[in-house]
Amino acid sequence: MGSKGHELSRRAFLKTTGAAGIAAVVPLLRPISARTWPGNQRSGLRPEPPAVLENGFPMATEPLRGLAAKKGLLIGTAFSSDAFKKDPVYGEVMAREFNCLVAENEMKLDVLQRVRGQFDFGPAEVMMAFAGRHGMKVRAVPLVWHDALPEWARDKTFPRSEALDILREHIFTVMRHFRGRVFAWDVLNEGLSDTGPGLREEGPWYRSIGPEYVERAYHWAHEADPQAALFYNDYAMDGMSEKADRCYRWVQELLGRGVPIHGVGLQYHVRMDKHPQPSEVTQNIRRFNDLGLIVHITELDVWLPKNAARAEFQQQADIYRGVFEAALAAPKCQAVVLWGFTDRYSWVPGISNGTYDHALIFDRDYRPKPAYEAISSVLGNTAPADCGARVREGVPL
Ligand code: G3I
Repeated sequence: MGSKGHELSRRAFLKTTGAAGIAAVVPLLRPISARTWPGNQRSGLRPEPPAVLENGFPMATEPLRGLAAKKGLLIGTAFSSDAFKKDPVYGEVMAREFNCLVAENEMKLDVLQRVRGQFDFGPAEVMMAFAGRHGMKVRAVPLVWHDALPEWARDKTFPRSEALDILREHIFTVMRHFRGRVFAWDVLNEGLSDTGPGLREEGPWYRSIGPEYVERAYHWAHEADPQAALFYNDYAMDGMSEKADRCYRWVQELLGRGVPIHGVGLQYHVRMDKHPQPSEVTQNIRRFNDLGLIVHITELDVWLPKNAARAEFQQQADIYRGVFEAALAAPKCQAVVLWGFTDRYSWVPGISNGTYDHALIFDRDYRPKPAYEAISSVLGNTAPADCGARVREGVPL
């Protein structure tokens, strides 16, 4: 029996035989737990979600979303509508493990307004419907970004008033469309310069309007949906980095000028050999919390070399463990969102020209990796956090 035949008969078998059948197949299912994760070689088996059988007879661990909810934490993943449409197991594992979704690309300007003035919410609504069916929260990204621009905006400099009109119409139209279904928005993504003082000067918005585009965007966003938590999101500021220091001073100034920013998003794209210490991350989150800001970890992935050895997968697990420990130790880190969850669908091999890979917590066959186990143990084992505080922050879980 090829893998397909084997697979079907096993499921059919489980469906028909129930408990008795389960006892018979337990040995078959055990290999799925991370403890016995067979490393990186392809199994040849059709991807199979870890063994939480329909009748709720748990064979492995309680899914992450259940454990995270008990800690008052949102655990999320980027959602790819392309993967969702072509791969049924993708949705199955996502619905079981996560209580929060972010559109990987479906809410960006190049998708929402591929044609200027014509809003296409179709791809994003695939995710919204899925989230609705599975009781998942949705944080939305990004309203304003210098990248992922449609042809009509790429490399353009508009007359200032026209650029202001474009931004205003986009923010009001998009936020009004999703109002009540999105609890947090990254209003601006990656607006700070990577090196020098001040803002990134790339992109049509800074070029056409100047630095003022930032405050305008946040005030419009707050007007469009006063209930939504408005975030600033960026990378390379997960720990106490120079960029994190600049971001800290900048949002402090914006808050001082009454700009409605409610939170900061730390993207957390790191490599096994280049990542902040958990203590630094907690310290960084704590100082933003002290400004009255919520913090989300928004695009977590931990890159490994393509030919990573088994020990490196364990090091990766330790890094994931550190992130969740830091999040739980901080006063107001409400959400940890991964930039995908299975190595089958990840931006990492492409952007690194194949040098890096294996950045997520399930392998290409949806088998939980040591990283999954590490997160599960942090969420399952630490003393219950003060859930009350988190719930009181207006995002009932
Ligand atoms: O959907 C089109 C498809 O129709 C077309 O055939 C194909 C070839 O051109 O392109 C497809 O669009 C691609 C899209 O991903 C969906 O796969 C875009 O070209 C490609 O640029 C886009 O890359 C995304 C990138 O942001 C730029 O928007 C990555 O998937 C996504 O992971 C990445 O995510 C960013 C966050 O938004 C911000 N922080 C960093 C993070 C990683 O770069």
